[in-house]
Amino acid sequence: MIYLDNHATTRCDPRVVDAMLPWFSEHYGNPHSGHPLGQEAKVAVEQAIESLAEDLGVPADSIVITSGATESNHLAILGACTHPRQKRRHIVTVTTEHPAVLDVFDVLEKQGFRVTRVPVAQDGEADAGVVDLNRLADAIDDDTALVSVMWANNEIGAIAPMAEIANLCHQSGALFHSDATQAVGRLSVDAKQVDVDLLSATAHKFYGPKGTGLLVVGNSNRRVRIRPLMVGGGQQHGLRSGTVNPAGTIGIATALRLCSQRISQNAERDRSIRDALWNSLNTAIEGIRLNGPAISGGSRLTGNLNFRLPNLQGQAWMAATTSIAFSSGSACSAAEAKPSHVLSALGLDDSQAGSSVRFGVGRFNSMDEIALASHQLIASYRSLME
Ligand SMILES: Cc1ncc(COP(=O)(O)O)c(C=O)c1O
Repeated sequence: MIYLDNHATTRCDPRVVDAMLPWFSEHYGNPHSGHPLGQEAKVAVEQAIESLAEDLGVPADSIVITSGATESNHLAILGACTHPRQKRRHIVTVTTEHPAVLDVFDVLEKQGFRVTRVPVAQDGEADAGVVDLNRLADAIDDDTALVSVMWANNEIGAIAPMAEIANLCHQSGALFHSDATQAVGRLSVDAKQVDVDLLSATAHKFYGPKGTGLLVVGNSNRRVRIRPLMVGGGQQHGLRSGTVNPAGTIGIATALRLCSQRISQNAERDRSIRDALWNSLNTAIEGIRLNGPAISGGSRLTGNLNFRLPNLQGQAWMAATTSIAFSSGSACSAAEAKPSHVLSALGLDDSQAGSSVRFGVGRFNSMDEIALASHQLIASYRSLME
């Protein structure tokens, strides 16, 4: 199996597993206990959080460890919008967000919030899939409590102009939340520099364990108030009750540090592997069309590829090429057999969306593997077309 689905999840790096292992059955104390076994876990968790804070450019006390990006998005959006001091009643997001953001907006809409969903540049434009900044500026008003825009899209890899968005939000006194799930570990993410108020991430997208994520609440520029969604023991500054997961916290910190140390080298490596895949498929398959931003030009994640095929459903290609793991649309919404809402938001019709596939390359892919994968993909495409 050649794994080319690194936007759905990544293989946990063996170095991350090694760092986590002692924290299960050797050093198993509860980090909230007062005895030495608890205290050693507490120190290890604190050190891991310091390391995360350094890599994300934020103070350590702004980091909340969660179960993943879905929870982080809930805590950020529901927590900020339903805080008792929050009097504004309008919220803004983008049509191509992940369901873990869009569905939370639907919940708030049912509770009486006014919601604006801003469109993105359309298929055929150079920055297809990137949020339209003029429309975003028009949408934000002095009743806007929060604006949520993902840093990088999980299907088409479109990268948002983060600093410009932060500026627009803060001019109107709105909070800026970003689901940075696909950006953290792949791009240099400095939450202070881009001035994002709330930032969600999850370890399993950057070679860490599944089931551990984080939310950054505020940065050194501004204090941000959120209401906790889970109450109980009052852990994590009262923002998320429940025993912190030491192995997971050490895992996410180790994973991010490994990425941060080689961020630009990794991005370049992903780019060369992704480009090799695209060049061979684009040469062999007549009528193939890229979905999302231009392949070069900086608005697309370097490991991302999403395209549509002439006269073939993505699902059929997948079924005929079981030796390669890739995805038709987004794995996160694959439970529903609907066309991808991201591709629809680009202006693709149902048939174009249905004939689309997504590849994500990553750390454990090699050029040799890509040559083999291209060969197998082209062979199965040709046999299906016969
Ligand atoms: C952009 C984005 N947000 C949120 C999620 C949900 O992350 P998690 O599985 O950690 O809850 C995913 C992927 O699953 C994603 O790609």
